[in-house]
Amino acid sequence: MLSIGNVKVTSPLILAPMAGISDLPYRLINRSFGCGLAFTEMISAIALAHKSKNTLKMLSATADDRPLGVQLLGGDPETIKRALDIVSGYSFDIIDFNAACPASKVVSGGKGAGLLREPVKLQKLLKVMVENTSLPVTVKIRSGWDDTLINAEETALRAQDAGVSGLFIHGRTKTQGYRGTVDYNIIREVKEALKIPVIASGDALTPELIRKLFDETGCDGVAVARGALGNPWIFRDTVEHLKCGAVPSISNINETTRTMKEHLDLNVAFHGEKIGVLHFRKFFSWYTRGMTVKGLKVRAFRAGTRDEMLRLIDELQALPDECHSEQVGMT
Ligand SMILES: Cc1cc2nc3c(=O)[nH]c(=O)nc-3n(C[C@H](O)[C@H](O)[C@H](O)COP(=O)(O)O)c2cc1C
Repeated sequence: MLSIGNVKVTSPLILAPMAGISDLPYRLINRSFGCGLAFTEMISAIALAHKSKNTLKMLSATADDRPLGVQLLGGDPETIKRALDIVSGYSFDIIDFNAACPASKVVSGGKGAGLLREPVKLQKLLKVMVENTSLPVTVKIRSGWDDTLINAEETALRAQDAGVSGLFIHGRTKTQGYRGTVDYNIIREVKEALKIPVIASGDALTPELIRKLFDETGCDGVAVARGALGNPWIFRDTVEHLKCGAVPSISNINETTRTMKEHLDLNVAFHGEKIGVLHFRKFFSWYTRGMTVKGLKVRAFRAGTRDEMLRLIDELQALPDECHSEQVGMT
């Protein structure tokens, strides 16, 4: 079983953090299909230190949303200490540090993937974190800055020296962003160099690709990001696939619409009707990816109330079977 510090993770399939997506409803839906550990989206240490209302809401969790990691983004030790102090008042199991976000405004402030060019500074920040929390600290890195600076192994060893309990590595460089091929070799090299658990990320889009990450890198776990959008079944299907090589089941429309309704209701309960429905619009599109339902998607993007959205989900369910077919993972 995967252990990160003292945290036992019952499945090595982990829900990766995604900004603007990884809220409590999203995490609960994915947990119901078997993800073993989830994270909040990245949370700016500065915004936390200012106790911004929207940022504090990102810390919300429930007893069935465990084990749970909070991911912090920052570049300066004092702000990080203040952020740690605030999160210590909440029930998290792991503190993760983001050294992977490629967004220009993050990187230019010496944060996120910007730290990949400053491994010594990253090591110092991680040490500060380890010394200022009783929880296990993990870090998320990328393979490197660009194809002239593939330094994940050095970065990872420095992180381990700083005392982190686990390392997440997205096998793409900062410059690649979310495009291009995933470098399985660098993930394997990092895994072989470290004693702590290494969790691989990058193109975990289908059970077959998740298996490939395990097989080609020897990683201890896989973080699923875009592959879970509108496809929480990926966790259940992957367990099946890893066990017996089965081709994943295509979820049936009744299960899809039941899950959509549950997700919508969780959204409304958590965000309120207006914002909850607004957030759900993009999920409508993800849940129906690959289906022949363009008209419904367009209407879902205009829906403003729970009832309107529920009616669209009912219409989706009532469509002839051929419209529902070919629901596949994200490409
Ligand atoms: C919309 C979006 C938001 C993301 N936000 C975060 C984030 O807040 N923190 C983080 O560490 N990674 C973030 N990521 C990166 C993912 O966690 C993951 O490492 C990356 O998407 C590669 O996995 P995939 O190719 O399987 O999607 C984000 C990715 C996407 C697509």
